[in-house]
Amino acid sequence: MIGLSSTISVAFYAIATISSVSAECTRDSLLAAANSYIRAQTAGKLDSLSLATEGFTYQENNKIIDIKKGVINTPLKIDLNRSTADTVACASYTMLISTSGSKPYVLATQLTHKNDNTSSITMIDTIAATTGSLFFNAAQTLTYIRAENWTTLSESRRPSRDLLKKVGDAYLDMWTDAKAADTIPWGTDCERVEGSRLTKPCGGQLPRGGSAKNNGMRRYVIDETVGSVDVLCAFNSLGDMPDSHEIRVEDGKVKYVHTITV
Ligand SMILES: *[C@@H]1O[C@H](CO)[C@@H](O)[C@H](O)[C@H]1NC(C)=O
Ligand SMILES: *[C@@H]1O[C@H](CO)[C@@H](O)[C@H](O)[C@H]1NC(C)=O
Ligand SMILES: *[C@@H]1O[C@H](CO)[C@@H](O)[C@H](O)[C@H]1NC(C)=O
Repeated sequence: MIGLSSTISVAFYAIATISSVSAECTRDSLLAAANSYIRAQTAGKLDSLSLATEGFTYQENNKIIDIKKGVINTPLKIDLNRSTADTVACASYTMLISTSGSKPYVLATQLTHKNDNTSSITMIDTIAATTGSLFFNAAQTLTYIRAENWTTLSESRRPSRDLLKKVGDAYLDMWTDAKAADTIPWGTDCERVEGSRLTKPCGGQLPRGGSAKNNGMRRYVIDETVGSVDVLCAFNSLGDMPDSHEIRVEDGKVKYVHTITV
């Protein structure tokens, strides 16, 4: 009898432990945190953010700075927002476009959370493109992005996490690896929006090596439900440019590519 009851209590203990560790970082809680960030950026105020009291980092354009000096303190009228959630990394990605105001912005922001605790933001990591950034024209970008269809993919149309990571890496490797472009499953009707520049189909006019400098500092947010990988990086192959590359894969093929480059 003792053996049986201790087996049962061990089993209960295991279930309780698993749920207390993994239950918190859900899609909904990640998107709720992302929405608190959108509210903060709209207001230009930090009050709506639950920032980690210890070890919080604010990074803008690949440099760690005091959050009080960041673009987040500038109220922005947001014309478009779209967020994705990575329940494995416990992180989210948000794209924001603001066309009006004294300075237009296109922002690519990843939020990260430690210990699966989405009630606490450990890092805000933003690429902030504005007038003067590569191919920058927020109103034109807005037109292209608005026309896209980012509906949740049914299970059978979703890429694996592994494929999304490979596609994100292969894309950023094209400037240094002549063979990388051919490893990417380009969709025939795929669209590439680089800043405000549209290329269709997106598998045309691709780089095939030529640079000795790898695009580094890669930070990933992968969301299989919408087939998206976002990689923030330092675009070192052509200079040292803070950059975001987001790719959507549908039915195993690349459908959209967005780049936001400062
Ligand atoms: C974000 O976008 C959704 C539609 O995708 C919209 O309903 C919501 O109001 C937007 N939020 C803000 C703060 O603009
Ligand atoms: C999660 O973060 C919140 C806000 O910082 C904190 O109050 C709470 O204790 C944390 N929970 C865990 C399980 O660490
Ligand atoms: C978006 O794509 C879904 C699934 O492919 C489709 O059902 C829906 O009609 C599309 N929406 C628009 C506005 O084209």
